Amino acid sequence: MAKMKSTFFCQSCGAQSAKWIGRCPSCGEWNTYVEELIEKDDKKSGWKSSSLQIAAKPKTFNEIQSDREDRVSSADMELDRVLGGGIVAGSIVLIGGEPGIGKSTLMLQVALNLKEHKVLYVSGEESEQQIKMRAERIGIQHPNCFVLNETGTQNIFKQIEQLQPDILIIDSIQTLQSSFIESAAGSVSQVRECTAELLKYAKESGTPVFLIGHITKEGTLAGPKVLEHMVDTVLQFEGDRNNSYRILRTTKNRFGSTSELGIYEMRGSGLREVPNPSEILLSQREENLSGIAIGATLEGNRPLLIELQSLVSVATYGTPQRTSTGFDSKRLSMLLAVLEKRVGFRMGNQDVFLNIAGGLKIEDPAIDLAVCVALVSSFEDKIISADVCFAGEIGLGGEIRAVNRIEQRISEAEKLGFKHIFVSRLNAKSIEKEKYGIQVHTVGKLAEVFDNLL
Ligand code: TYD
Ligand code: MG
Repeated sequence: MAKMKSTFFCQSCGAQSAKWIGRCPSCGEWNTYVEELIEKDDKKSGWKSSSLQIAAKPKTFNEIQSDREDRVSSADMELDRVLGGGIVAGSIVLIGGEPGIGKSTLMLQVALNLKEHKVLYVSGEESEQQIKMRAERIGIQHPNCFVLNETGTQNIFKQIEQLQPDILIIDSIQTLQSSFIESAAGSVSQVRECTAELLKYAKESGTPVFLIGHITKEGTLAGPKVLEHMVDTVLQFEGDRNNSYRILRTTKNRFGSTSELGIYEMRGSGLREVPNPSEILLSQREENLSGIAIGATLEGNRPLLIELQSLVSVATYGTPQRTSTGFDSKRLSMLLAVLEKRVGFRMGNQDVFLNIAGGLKIEDPAIDLAVCVALVSSFEDKIISADVCFAGEIGLGGEIRAVNRIEQRISEAEKLGFKHIFVSRLNAKSIEKEKYGIQVHTVGKLAEVFDNLL
């Protein structure tokens, strides 16, 4: 019988303490300490505990073999891109997201699409029948995709040893329970222990493992930060639940860039990849309205054209409102101040609403120019022609500053059939205007843009 030891863990950040404390000294949260029983005897582990320990020796870089990491394609272009070019053998990937956003759907779909591989989908959240129903909805047949309804890691590993899957999917890490630890499923020490066992399995067998993780109310992955440190890749699945578009974003990747982005659309029959996102983000405009401008932005390495919608109208009740969705509201206030001081559009007594179509959040400063144009268009009630787009950052002096990767933005606008794009004069050097079928207007000050447009 192993000796039992109890320790208090902060459920928010994972800090440990020998006794209960009201306020966590490490993250400052109140009332987050919970007692968990952990076993002292840590010689055991869930996955092949008796593996031989070969003492490591220091090596020079020349001695280290550098076979390029083995990757398999997931048959899902968006996921492959986000992972940096496919699933890496022996890697462990954590997918986080709000409840109901579609994590289980995404992973089941990936499982069903991996036709050449034996896939094991372990679910502690839903029954086999529920998973079958979902698979029927997705409508893909895969004779070698196995479903296991189990939460104990020891049993899961027993099944794995028998089945020898090529890919393992766990839905979700918070439902797993290792019998080496006493505390409840979902607690910090359980999550950490189960992940450690799966990590060991992934590294020793070379099998890629996908973990689905819950996120907390605050939007961070539940369980301590340790979880994020342990895995190779962290993906966030996000989107507005009232909107059908979903974004898969990398926040950590040991095998690729973290600036990648995958876009999906949730349909009645599962998730559909969206290879050309600009088309969906430019909302289907029937008639020309004022207050709309198109900005050429980049999300990760992907150029995107997004639609900025604004409504500026006289404030009838007290203090004018400034509301923005998908755009930083402090930046909106700054742009309004610049428009007032440098160009003379007085919007101080107006309610201002700004919205980015498609439920996206954009931090790229290159959409500043499009924001200003949308605001002025609504304020002056002048329509901006639908074949014009913008890429430029606005400085406090009303000057239009250069933005990075301007050529990619211009090419994307050209590809989508825009006739004119306004960019900063400072970008002019790096652009060969003749190369493009789109007319590139280089401007130095905000005022010049409005002289051109209105
Ligand atoms: P789910 O994958 O269960 O979310 P999570 O695992 O992140 O909690 O999916 C949730 C939503 O997706 C659910 O509300 C129903 C919807 N959905 C569709 O719209 N179409 C589909 O084909 C499927 C399977 C689900
Ligand atoms: Mg789920």
